[in-house]
Amino acid sequence: MIWTMAYRSIVYVRPLSSTHKLNLQSPILMTQPTQPEITLAESAPRPQRVPGLPFVGNALDMARDPSAFFVDMYRRHGPVFRIKVLGEEYTVLAGPEANLFMSRQSAGHLRSREFWQGMVEEFEATTLMVAEDGERHADMRKIMQPGFSRSVLNGRYQEVIDITDDVLKREWQPGTEVPVVQAMQRLVTKQLGQIIANQSPGDYVDDIRLFIKRILNVRVTHQRPGFMMQLPDYKRAKSRFFELGQSMLDNHESDPERPTILIDDLIRASEERPDLFPESDLVSEVISPYIAGLDTVANTTASFVYAVLKHPDVLQRIQTEADALFAQGAPTMSMLKNDAPALFGAYMETLRLYPIAVAAMRNADSDFVFEGCQVREGEPIYMATAVSHFLPEFYPDPLTFDVDRPVQQYRQPGAFAPFGLGPHTCLGAGMAEILILLSMATLFNRLDLALSPPDYELKLSVAPTPGPEAKFRVRVVGRRTAAN
Ligand code: HEM
Repeated sequence: MIWTMAYRSIVYVRPLSSTHKLNLQSPILMTQPTQPEITLAESAPRPQRVPGLPFVGNALDMARDPSAFFVDMYRRHGPVFRIKVLGEEYTVLAGPEANLFMSRQSAGHLRSREFWQGMVEEFEATTLMVAEDGERHADMRKIMQPGFSRSVLNGRYQEVIDITDDVLKREWQPGTEVPVVQAMQRLVTKQLGQIIANQSPGDYVDDIRLFIKRILNVRVTHQRPGFMMQLPDYKRAKSRFFELGQSMLDNHESDPERPTILIDDLIRASEERPDLFPESDLVSEVISPYIAGLDTVANTTASFVYAVLKHPDVLQRIQTEADALFAQGAPTMSMLKNDAPALFGAYMETLRLYPIAVAAMRNADSDFVFEGCQVREGEPIYMATAVSHFLPEFYPDPLTFDVDRPVQQYRQPGAFAPFGLGPHTCLGAGMAEILILLSMATLFNRLDLALSPPDYELKLSVAPTPGPEAKFRVRVVGRRTAAN
């Protein structure tokens, strides 16, 4: 199934049919949170089943635009309903009610293990952090947290800018057309390699991309058939991916003089906590940041480029801000956030309007009642976290890319969840923010770009994660400034 669709034409134009009204006075939405009512009531009804086609169920609507589908269903059926996708039934918890539940009450109600099991198997690992829950997950997360934190990039902004400049010089030649998603994938892969292990992935970049995309499409989101895991291209990419992981470990030199990076922490953990990080899992853990960071950052930056080029006034403001930032050498985090409001506003609006995680997958960890409906232990759940992003109750004129939105709009409880919620909230969010802001500031400072064709309207590809289609290209009109 090709999960491709015209994003704007569907998300932006479809009116929200309005049966379920969000009650902004409801206790669940107040800043001083009260607990949503969770009681085991045998008599509670099952969530309403959304009408759909025989067998196919709601797969076509989901394939066309999962965001728009979930928003529409939320309006019609409220924050809990059931859908069918190719014979499989799923419960959907949606909207701010679901977001608050996920951030406060995941423990004991939601688990991640089943969803990520396919990836654990492909990695030939005992486990991976994303597939763990409860205490084991918390312990693993604590060990990995420093290596993913934004402070890893302290003193290294110039390095990120240099990698970006190098890629721009090689791949973004004036007069050429650049397929943006692929170009961003190559850029972020190089940035991540350097940050995780002080090692560029060199000519392994395409293997990393193929390996990750295939696993996510086939073994995690089940959007592609299983035989694709047997194809020679996958087998080759997998073997090269592990070769890269092994070489990252072999080439690694611990150096007490420099700040520790993720690979240092993982090696130490395999000695101190082999129950969590057995030595046999080390290669998988070392390369796992590529899984978490590659598509997410590449799709977000590609959407960022599209949205900015679609709004010439925003483009001009970002260019002016970027010029001022680079006039003073490598920008600091505070400069990126405070002295470049259009750049930062574009980042926030891209996360809101082009979320790479429309919904997180979980299984119910116990029987529970959510918003009056019974959810049963073991059943698969879509946590439709991005529904709130499109609700006018939170964001006036929600479909407008408005880089001047007050930050208070994003901060309303349950309103904004681009990095997920609860115990598995993105561990790399701070790092991602810096990488994206630095990369975008560098790109718009160095190059004059234009959409190709100029009236291009973005189409999304949904497999494995929503993002611009591979055909999205920009024309490099010329160079604005030389690299510093
Ligand atoms: C725009 C960029 C990014 C977005 C939108 C994003 C989004 C997310 C989301 C939604 C989750 C939660 C998944 C779930 O609940 O099932 C997640 C988890 C995670 N992300 Fe990110 N991510 C981004 C970039 C990164 C980067 C650059 C890294 C690090 C290299 C990273 C590392 C992680 C890790 C390790 C987890 C798993 C946390 C856990 O299981 O405890 N992410 N991310």
